[in-house]
Amino acid sequence: MDLKEEILRLKKEKNAVIMAHYYTLGDIQNVADYVGDSLALAQNAAKTTADIIVLCGVHFMGETAKILCPDKKVLVPDMNAGCSLADSCRAEDFAQFIKENPGHTVISYVNTTAAVKALTDVVVTSSNAIQIVNSFPKDQKIIFGPDRNLGNYINSLTGRNMKLWNGACHVHENFSLEKILKLKEVYPDARILVHPECKGPVVKLADKVGSTAALLKYSVACEDCNDFIVATESGILHEMRRQAPQKNFIPAPPSDSTCGCNDCAYMKLNTLQKLYDCLVNESPEVLVDPAIIERACLPIKRMLEISAKYGI
Ligand code: 13P
Ligand code: SF4
Repeated sequence: MDLKEEILRLKKEKNAVIMAHYYTLGDIQNVADYVGDSLALAQNAAKTTADIIVLCGVHFMGETAKILCPDKKVLVPDMNAGCSLADSCRAEDFAQFIKENPGHTVISYVNTTAAVKALTDVVVTSSNAIQIVNSFPKDQKIIFGPDRNLGNYINSLTGRNMKLWNGACHVHENFSLEKILKLKEVYPDARILVHPECKGPVVKLADKVGSTAALLKYSVACEDCNDFIVATESGILHEMRRQAPQKNFIPAPPSDSTCGCNDCAYMKLNTLQKLYDCLVNESPEVLVDPAIIERACLPIKRMLEISAKYGI
């Protein structure tokens, strides 16, 4: 059986749409109707006319799609595709943090559970965080969670002093400053591309800091550059190489060279076989408590509205 052909057949038969994040395996990206960063996946979910959304990414991305489209069936190929960053912020603990800091606007990164989003005033992604934070008055007190690195980056760019939740992503925290500097000696002209979930010293090295979509766009558009050191999850290299095959994309090395830690093991749980199985069985399905949907929907829609206003 040709899995790819069968997936395409089933997708048509069931009026399903396949959305994939840039960090998934190349095979998955090749079969998807839409490949994007977390903002683009949410934007596409919000406007799809399909009956079934298959979200090849991690669980919070499936939840976001379900919150935006509660009447649609949202499937994920593997329920175990979690996120270490979302896991670093339990809703009970975040509720306590909010309670301890009264009078603060609550801004949450999209890499959170639906229950955390339900406690939030506005959601952001790495594509729109600066604009959304800047849409609040300068003296507005803000809580930001869960990524401390992204939070510090936003604080430094906006001159804010947001109170930060102490969470991080195990993939992005792991890039080695020393090894990137050594690589730069080998490729002195290389542009360094960095996702804002990386630690501050790595972010400081960057020629471009941005979401996966922003890093991709920069690398394709840059006319006088050939080599790129890419400090984000290695799956993005698939689309970079597809869009700019003549350029040289080098994955930034993690601190531990034996662990393959620049791969997000959760994202890599999405395989063609599981995608096929989930289309056949219409399972596993992402289900979110309707009371949570009602509350979590508002901050996500607010994010989409502000993004549209800024043309993001
Ligand atoms: P993007 O919003 O850039 O796609 O990032 C998602 C993510 O999980 C980063 O680790
Ligand atoms: Fe979560 Fe990190 Fe994987 Fe992104 S790369 S999905 S933040 S664990």
